[in-house]
Amino acid sequence: MTAVGVARPRVEGPDKVTGAARYAADVPMEDLAFGAAVLATVTRGRVRDIDVSAVQDMPGVLGVLDHRNAPRLNPKAPGFFGPDGQLQLLQDEVVPFAGRPVALVVAETLEQAQAAAAALPVTYDTEPHDTRFTADHPARRPAVTFFDGPVDIGDVEAELAASAVVVEERYRTPEEHHSAMEPHSATAWWEDGRLEAIDSNQGPFTVAGVLATLFSMPPDRVRVRTEHIGGGFGSKGLCGPQLILAAMAAQRFGRPVRVTLSRTQVFLSTGMRPATDQVIRIGADVDGRLRAVWHESAFEISPLAEFIEGCTELTKTLYAAPAIRTSLSAVPLDILPPCSMRGPGTAPGSFALECAMDELAERLDMDPLELRLRNEPEVGPVSGLPFSSRNLVACLQEGARRFGWADRDHRPRQRREGHLLIGTGFAATSFSAGAFPSSASITAEPDGAFTVAVGATDLGTGARTALTAIAADALEVSTERIRLRISDSALGPAWGAGGSRGTTSWTWAISEAGARMREQGGGTVTVDTTDLLGDLPSMERHTFSAVFAEVSVDPATGEVRVRRLLGMYAIGRVVNPLTARSQVIGGMIGGLSMALHEEGLRDRVTGRHVNADFAGYHIAAHADVPDIEADFVPDHEPGIPMGVKGAGEIGNVGTAAAIANAVWHATGVRQRALPLRLDRVLEESPGWAGRRTGGDTPG
Ligand code: MOS
Repeated sequence: MTAVGVARPRVEGPDKVTGAARYAADVPMEDLAFGAAVLATVTRGRVRDIDVSAVQDMPGVLGVLDHRNAPRLNPKAPGFFGPDGQLQLLQDEVVPFAGRPVALVVAETLEQAQAAAAALPVTYDTEPHDTRFTADHPARRPAVTFFDGPVDIGDVEAELAASAVVVEERYRTPEEHHSAMEPHSATAWWEDGRLEAIDSNQGPFTVAGVLATLFSMPPDRVRVRTEHIGGGFGSKGLCGPQLILAAMAAQRFGRPVRVTLSRTQVFLSTGMRPATDQVIRIGADVDGRLRAVWHESAFEISPLAEFIEGCTELTKTLYAAPAIRTSLSAVPLDILPPCSMRGPGTAPGSFALECAMDELAERLDMDPLELRLRNEPEVGPVSGLPFSSRNLVACLQEGARRFGWADRDHRPRQRREGHLLIGTGFAATSFSAGAFPSSASITAEPDGAFTVAVGATDLGTGARTALTAIAADALEVSTERIRLRISDSALGPAWGAGGSRGTTSWTWAISEAGARMREQGGGTVTVDTTDLLGDLPSMERHTFSAVFAEVSVDPATGEVRVRRLLGMYAIGRVVNPLTARSQVIGGMIGGLSMALHEEGLRDRVTGRHVNADFAGYHIAAHADVPDIEADFVPDHEPGIPMGVKGAGEIGNVGTAAAIANAVWHATGVRQRALPLRLDRVLEESPGWAGRRTGGDTPG
């Protein structure tokens, strides 16, 4: 292989920096009308009336779509976890959560649509709501778990009773919002009985399939393209409200309609990471060998749509113990339906597990790195299956070497610089890997080039660049001879950019098509990998990493600043060291943001979000982010073409725990709730006890 493994800048880089790259809301179109969504302002109830007459004579207004006149949608349209009420927009007067779209105002220009949407009178009959997540909520019930199901091996109670040291703690994480730079936008039009759309999403083939079901259309009469995408982080995995509303309005008004959500509408209507409440019990012998790990996680959901925040998945993978028990429960509330976000489940789960491991090391008076090394499993601790490749120890040891871990005094509150307390911490992580069925086709062109078509998307992570290299090596030609086509549902079935499985899934299809093209010597080859993935589940397949952090804490203000972050990763073969490094660094910044800043807040009386914008919902900005070092240990995934595993989400996982552990090391006080807000760090610091600055909030 000559192209894979070489650092190359993004192939679309010049288009992006010169402004030539078009995102979904940029694509010019004739006869385009604009839709502005109107979102419910009550948390639970029914729409009593929408007074369309108040806006229909406003400048440019073409009409208003609401539950009384919107096209009927097929209620069987599926989400990832079953029938999904989040897709059933404008079908009835019921308001299941604040932020549910109740109308779409369509006008000649965006400004006219927004003005009329702002003026549209909507009245409601309200009903009592419940948006307050607590672990002891009476509605708590077992989560539906077709992955991350409950496990119970060994005798957890007996092993805990026999343990020399036991940690039992509760960890909480709040609602968090994806915050992709590009707001969701869709343009849809109907032509000769076909539905066409340009949308911002993570998987055009999947989205087109859902759209076809929603509108009861044959799949081959629905086409969705994505062009460039300004990030998704899970929020663009499925058919979003912008696309459903645009398609309905285009049908109703007989012309192309563009719906672009405002930033606040993205917060209120497109999904979020649910709040979690996790209890971890770990027991160990004096030498640090684990006897039992018991991880119970609860998260909030909406009754509209089933969802799984799989916080306990890595507890089944990371450490050996004779007894392991996990469970997931869900608390249905009148909230925006949660969806996958930046390492779903594993990111909050690793915060709990890896903080608890750090607490165990403290109580054992042991180097937390040594604690990890003593509990390295031979095979999957629960499954008993062999690991396809497991290079966690290499990540730990190389990361520790580069970070200078050996010099650390493991006692807390030992380092000061002026008035600042300094600490370091780390976390080990894993993230599940694999592939989903995808298709690819390759055509040999008369000029010696190859057109390689796969229904992939590039969220900005470098997929175009990576797949160009993969296609070149699959065909054994130079990258200059590759013409890559992606971002179009018409290119055939393909998994999306999600679950850290995009590159692996598309690579499989391209590799197979390339091999057949080399045999065939010309023409066109089309491959579908559905029947090729059979052996994948016979092993535990995961990426691994170790993340190290150094923080300073100002005890007078509670301010935590991350001074250093270092991550070592085992992600299989690295397709492009340049973009892969950027991708995991991006993930680490997401983890830093999760640790220090991000928290969706609701008003307890109205149940509505109070910080649904970037003034109130803080994300890490440039000044929050230190110099970050990220690198890869040699790794190769057997049984997967090119040996790739996936860099998508592992970068995010573990970072929050590493930072929280560093804050403990700096201050001597454990932080078990995210984010590490000023008031939490301040009020709980020795010497500052009692100086509470405000009430505790959920999460
Ligand atoms: Mo990712 S949260 O699987 O898009």
